[in-house]
Amino acid sequence: MSVDLHDAVAVVTGAGSGIGRAAAHAFARRGTRVVVTDLDAERARAVAGELGGPAVAAPCDVTRVEDLVAVRDLALGRFGRVDLVMNNVGILAVGPVEDIPLDAWQRVIDVNLLGVVRSNLVFLPLLLEQGSGHVVNTASTAGLLPYGFDRLPYTATKHALVGLSEALALYLRPRGVGVTCLCPAGVATNIVEQIAFYGEPAPPQGPAFPVVDAESVGELLADGVSEDRFLLLTAPEAADELRALGADVDLYLSQFPSRHPSRPT
Ligand SMILES: NC(=O)c1ccc[n+]([C@@H]2O[C@H](COP(=O)([O-])OP(=O)(O)OC[C@H]3O[C@@H](n4cnc5c(N)ncnc54)[C@H](O)[C@@H]3O)[C@@H](O)[C@H]2O)c1
Repeated sequence: MSVDLHDAVAVVTGAGSGIGRAAAHAFARRGTRVVVTDLDAERARAVAGELGGPAVAAPCDVTRVEDLVAVRDLALGRFGRVDLVMNNVGILAVGPVEDIPLDAWQRVIDVNLLGVVRSNLVFLPLLLEQGSGHVVNTASTAGLLPYGFDRLPYTATKHALVGLSEALALYLRPRGVGVTCLCPAGVATNIVEQIAFYGEPAPPQGPAFPVVDAESVGELLADGVSEDRFLLLTAPEAADELRALGADVDLYLSQFPSRHPSRPT
């Protein structure tokens, strides 16, 4: 069931920067033809140009289903098929929960969660018809663990993406389509551009996972897709936290403040 990236066709959203860009590069290094999409058309064009081999750029806002339809049609017109869909866009609203307004929640849900729902509606019929392919959803360790209480819309949507991805894997795998849920911890990217801040910032608290470069995440992902792995963590330390959480949620939550004291800002 694993996807042979050589000669495959991949669509990557939010591929103009950071993890999406690095994934596009890692796929292209393995011979994949990549449709590089981003809200920022200029960035998408620049990344497609960097890839060298067969690649095409398209503007695509994941809050607009018509953009995703146009990307699907471009991929089919140019390359004849789609094998891999990477749903990678994520934005944040950061601040105390009482200061984050409803419209900020709606925006984060529209991009982070409904963006993937729209992509599924557009691309899954193709993959199911083929009986082959692979879906990658970029979630976060903040979708597995509860430390993101200073960015609740992000935490909630990334948890939703993990659950959606797990259930989707159970549905799609018997139909020949693989699913990978990429859960990065800290990655050096331009993600700060995607943050809307509200209220007074709280001092950072939670596991201090190491920050890695985007290129290594692209490589981890391309290998993980080739091996048809479901959960990919960029910080193996997150697995220890996940085990502690899973062993006893009540204990984990009550011990969180002593286990992870606030760090100076
Ligand atoms: N960087 C990290 O530390 C980190 C950690 C965990 C998870 N992630 C996740 O990785 C994914 C990629 O983030 P990144 O760090 O590479 O960020 P980035 O800001 O470097 O790249 C994100 C790209 O998404 C594009 N984008 C924003 N809104 C869009 C929309 N509506 N439609 C289409 N494109 C849009 C931006 O133009 C940008 O090019 C996100 O889902 C993020 O939540 C990042």
